[in-house]
Amino acid sequence: VNVNAAVVTSFGDPPRYQPFSLQPPSGGELLLDVLAVGLHPRVRSGAAGIHYTSTGTLPMIPGIDGVARRPDGQRVYFVAADHVAGTMADRAAVDPRRAVELPDDVDAATVAATMNPAMSSWVALRRRVAIESGQSVLVLGATGNAGSMAVQIARLLGADHVVGAGRNVERLESAGADAVVPLTADPSATASALGAVAAEVDIVLDYLWGEPAQRAIVGLLTARSDRSRALNWIQIGAIAGPTIELPSVALRSANFRLQGSGQGAFSPEVYLGELPSLIDRIATGEIALKTNTMPLADVESAWQRADGPGERTVLVP
Ligand SMILES: NC(=O)c1ccc[n+]([C@@H]2O[C@H](COP(=O)([O-])OP(=O)(O)OC[C@H]3O[C@@H](n4cnc5c(N)ncnc54)[C@H](OP(=O)(O)O)[C@@H]3O)[C@@H](O)[C@H]2O)c1
Repeated sequence: VNVNAAVVTSFGDPPRYQPFSLQPPSGGELLLDVLAVGLHPRVRSGAAGIHYTSTGTLPMIPGIDGVARRPDGQRVYFVAADHVAGTMADRAAVDPRRAVELPDDVDAATVAATMNPAMSSWVALRRRVAIESGQSVLVLGATGNAGSMAVQIARLLGADHVVGAGRNVERLESAGADAVVPLTADPSATASALGAVAAEVDIVLDYLWGEPAQRAIVGLLTARSDRSRALNWIQIGAIAGPTIELPSVALRSANFRLQGSGQGAFSPEVYLGELPSLIDRIATGEIALKTNTMPLADVESAWQRADGPGERTVLVP
């Protein structure tokens, strides 16, 4: 099947818009017209060949999700399976089990931009650790699109106190948290500040991992008044580093529960099952970011452009 797509032929170079020959859809997949695809950080790391799911095979089409139109006219939001070509093409293979129907009143580009960053906290707080009304949440890494939406989503889902921590103070202040902790170049001062402000939270949504998370775990547990009360730490992103060193005492001296949340951590049915309710919140505008829409044919220049604060680029075939 011939499509026009963003094609990566060399890792490290931006994709170019060109014809591509796709494997015919199989196993119940449908070849659908693509309407909009988000240029998420995960899409960039896949296209650079540095995501942990990367197989190193070239040429490849980037893109992990998108909005497409079925032959009956119905629009769907879909997530690409790992083994198929990516979504940055005028047509893509869509597995109906990984697609949810969109209501008529929601904009395709808005959905393509918002779902990936928003679902990170939506699914974590509904399926990994179901948040209870009145609980408090720390968002570690609250300055990016996913982290700043996590502040809003925690509140929508019942949190009555949300602390945001991040390194960019200006963006941190605008994320709308009840309290903020700047992550500074002084690690011990940062750990004490986290301990002072966030030691009593119930849930941590961690977008950073790496050294900031390592220090935050110790800082929070050290300052916690009742360490037998559960501290649910949900690992979501690894912007600051892929590994941490975790002292065993953290797991023995406290009721510290470390879990992750991401697509592979749930069955596709569970994951996809959470998306219609999220789409409803996006349709009402309760969960939003700025979309920068560009033609898919301009993918090369889109790649070289950095999104501004609170913005996500969406490519439209
Ligand atoms: N598990 C899931 O389900 C899931 C779903 C979606 C996304 N994610 C992950 O979540 C992460 C964030 O995604 P996103 O869409 O929000 O990306 P984004 O909009 O590009 O935001 C990333 C933010 O990280 C901040 N940052 C970078 N390095 C940092 C560091 N060393 N310390 C503190 N902050 C740092 C940057 O803020 P400043 O430069 O302004 O400091 C930037 O605003 C990514 O790792 C993504 O893969 C996970």
